[in-house]
Parts: sequence; structure tokens; C-alpha cells
Amino acid sequence: MEFPYAEPFKIKSIENIKRSTLVQRKQWIKEAQYNLFNLKSDQIFIDLLTDSGTGSMSDNQWAEIMKGDEAYAGSRSFDLLKTNVQRITGYKYLIPTHQGRAAENVLFSALVKEGDVVPGNSHFDTTKGHIEFRKAKAIDCTIDEASDTSVFHPFKGNIDLNKLEKVFKTYPKENIPMLIMTVTCNTAGGQPVSMKNIRETSELCQSYGIPLFFDGARFAENAYFIKKREDAYKHKTIKDIVLEMFSYGDGMTMSAKKDGLVNMGGFIATNDENIYNKATVFAIMYEGFITYGGMSGRDMGALAIGLDEATEFDYLESRVEQVQYLGRKLMAAGVPVQQPIGGHAIYLDANKFVPTIPRDQYRAQALAVELYIVGGIRAVEIGTILADRDPETGNNRYPDLELVRLAIPRRTYTNNHMDYVAAVIEQVYQTRHEAKTGYEIIYEAPILRHFTVKLRKI
Ligand code: F0G
Repeated sequence: MEFPYAEPFKIKSIENIKRSTLVQRKQWIKEAQYNLFNLKSDQIFIDLLTDSGTGSMSDNQWAEIMKGDEAYAGSRSFDLLKTNVQRITGYKYLIPTHQGRAAENVLFSALVKEGDVVPGNSHFDTTKGHIEFRKAKAIDCTIDEASDTSVFHPFKGNIDLNKLEKVFKTYPKENIPMLIMTVTCNTAGGQPVSMKNIRETSELCQSYGIPLFFDGARFAENAYFIKKREDAYKHKTIKDIVLEMFSYGDGMTMSAKKDGLVNMGGFIATNDENIYNKATVFAIMYEGFITYGGMSGRDMGALAIGLDEATEFDYLESRVEQVQYLGRKLMAAGVPVQQPIGGHAIYLDANKFVPTIPRDQYRAQALAVELYIVGGIRAVEIGTILADRDPETGNNRYPDLELVRLAIPRRTYTNNHMDYVAAVIEQVYQTRHEAKTGYEIIYEAPILRHFTVKLRKI
């Protein structure tokens, strides 16, 4: 007999969460101007806004917090982090930063200039923001299958090599400072990139002399999918897969708040001494001295341990399979979700869920608000609001997909919470035909508007 699956950890410390009533939630979300970022966490029962910095640390990580060395320069905790980053990624040079976008800011300050283009597989919004802020352009070369939520493709984060080669042929080499390969690809639905695609992209980059950088926020989850879905890697350890993945690139930026299993932190790692030297100048200006770069010693220690734990198969199995568990429940109820289910989140397909709400009334946002009102669940819109306006025309950019993301924090909620979430979504799905109108914007910032947007119900 096969026994049911059980997590490879037990719970040492708990945090209480608050229930609320429908009447309270209607009032609170109105006060928050229908922007879920404006809610207080006490107003939320299950918080699936993000898996970034919201996970639980292990006893070993907490122990390392006590051992943190807060020396301004040459801290022991930095050495521990550097040793583990070198062992796990294979990259020699390390610059800690306070989070992922800070790593982008430092690296792009050194490499990206006005008029450049940076190809990649659906750049994350902060990555795109940092590219466009420098008057450069992010070019999306993801395979077409990624934009059809009902197509099953095992590696929807893959780069289309024909699209990429077209970019390399259209623009001069001096205007392509790098390619960014995001693993897993958050914007495409937490979808992995295959080892084959990483290898072939790397070969193409090398033949045109273009550096390849990884956005490694969820690199360990990507390695898990490679092990599960790419035959040649079935018997390899996660750590071996990770080393091979990174061997095809020149370096990486990292948001350690994801697969670093910490609440705050990030880094740049690279084997290119020249790029490292250029980036350190900006690291010192924006982040701090090169042996702490915006992180305290204790946090670097916890990250060093977190990277090791995140690249263990047992941990990854419990993490990714919990997300799959929720996904399977929703699919069984007929709810339209991005398939296959990604590594860190479920993405509801709002175009299919609430086609009755006009697109210019932000249907994905309307769906996210409804999940909060009905069940106290906080999700996030990955649709037209997030896509910002075209910097040239000022018009809304309508992305191929209007998604609502339910990101699952690592080692934090139980499958009972997942059952609750599934039940709420199923109920909203059953009443979807009643939804006819959405929202209009009454305030927005010129860039990354989704964080501070204010909305009015139509
Ligand atoms: N790259 C990817 C793929 C990300 O998902 C994120 C953050 C970043 C870079 C930026 O890192 O937040 O540490 O500055 N994603 C979070 C999310 C915000 O909710 O998906 P950061």
C-alpha cells in the first residue's frame, strides 16, 4: 500500500491569523480603494499576495541569525554566504544586495544604457522597470505556447530561439548588453525553462558574443521541474542540476526572498571579473560596502543556510507539490487556470473566468477583489494594471494574459488552508456570470503603477 504524502518538517512556532466577516471585508477593501496592496495584514485571512519574503525559516536558519557577524567589512557571515553561493551556483564573485531589484539596479547601472535592448523570457516587472528606466527596451522572446493557458507544455518558460536570433540580427552587439533568462518564469506563470533550452540559448548567445544572465529568484524550483520533466535528469541531484544550469551563464541576479528562503535579501553572482569590478562601484553607491551590500550579517548567514535547504529534493517536493495540490483541486472543479501548474503559484485565467467584465475595466483586478471579499484571501493581479502603459503612446498595454496569481509562501500554510482557498474560488466561479462591471483608475504612478493605484468601482 502506498501511504499518503507528508511534509518532511514539523512546526515549531506558529503565528495566529484572523478571520473576518463579509461586511468588514467589503468596508476594508473600499477604504483600500480596491488596491489589495493597501490592506492591512490583519484584514486578511490567507495571504497569497506573494511568495516573496513571506516563507518560514528553519531552526538552522534561526540559529545562524544568532551567529551573525555584523562587522562592516570582512564579516564571517559574508564568507559563509560566499562559500555557499560558490558551491551551489559555481559563480566566484558575489555582491550582496538588499533584495532582487537592488541587484538589478546595480548590475544594470554597470551594463545597460539608453537605446539598448535586453532580450529575455518575459522579464519580471521590476526587471523591465529597471531596463525601461534607463531608456532601454526589454524584448520578450518567450515561446508562443506560454500565452495559451490551456496548452500543456512542460517548459513554458522556454525562449524561442528564432525570436532571439532575430533580435541578435536586428540590433548591433554594442546595444545588447545581455540576455536575461528568468528561472522559473514568473510572468509566464511560474513556468520552468528546460536544461535543453538553457543550453541552446547559451550557445546562441555565445555565437553572437552576448552575455547570459539568469534572474535566479526561483532557480531551485526550476531545477525540480527539470528533474521531474526532462528524462536525462531523472537521476541527478538538485544540486547537480543547479550547477549545470548556472554553468551556461555568465552570472545571475537573485531575489533571495524566494529560493533563498529568507525574508529579505538578494545578490549578484558572476564569474566575469570585469563585470564584477564595474558592478561593485554601483554596489557601494546604492547598497553598501561589498561585504554586506544592504544586508545585515545575520541575514547573510540565514541566506547561506537557506540556499542549501532550498536545493534539497525533499524540501522542493513538499513545496512544489503543495502548489500542484491546490491546482489539481481547482482543475477538477473546472476553474480555468494556467496549465501546467507553475512552481510557486496558481494563476487564474481571468479572460476565461470573467469574460463578461470588459478588459478596460481591469477584469483580473476585479476577480482578485472578489476573492478577498468572499473569502478574505489576498491574491494579486498580473494583467493590464501590472502591464503599465506604453511609454511612447501612453495607452494601456493589454497583455496576452489577464491573470490572478495566488502565490503560496514556502513552508507556511497547510493543505487545510489550500482546501479553504479552493472552496472560496469554486464558489466565486459558480457565480461568475453575475459579474458585469469592473473598475476605473482614479490615480496611478508613471511607472510600476500597480503598487499604488487607486480604483473606483463602476
Ligand atoms: N525577479 C523575479 C522573477 C521576481 O519574481 C522578483 C520579485 C524580482 C526579480 C524582484 O525581486 O522583490 O526581491 O526585489 N517578485 C516578487 C513577486 C515581488 O511577488 O513575485 P525583489
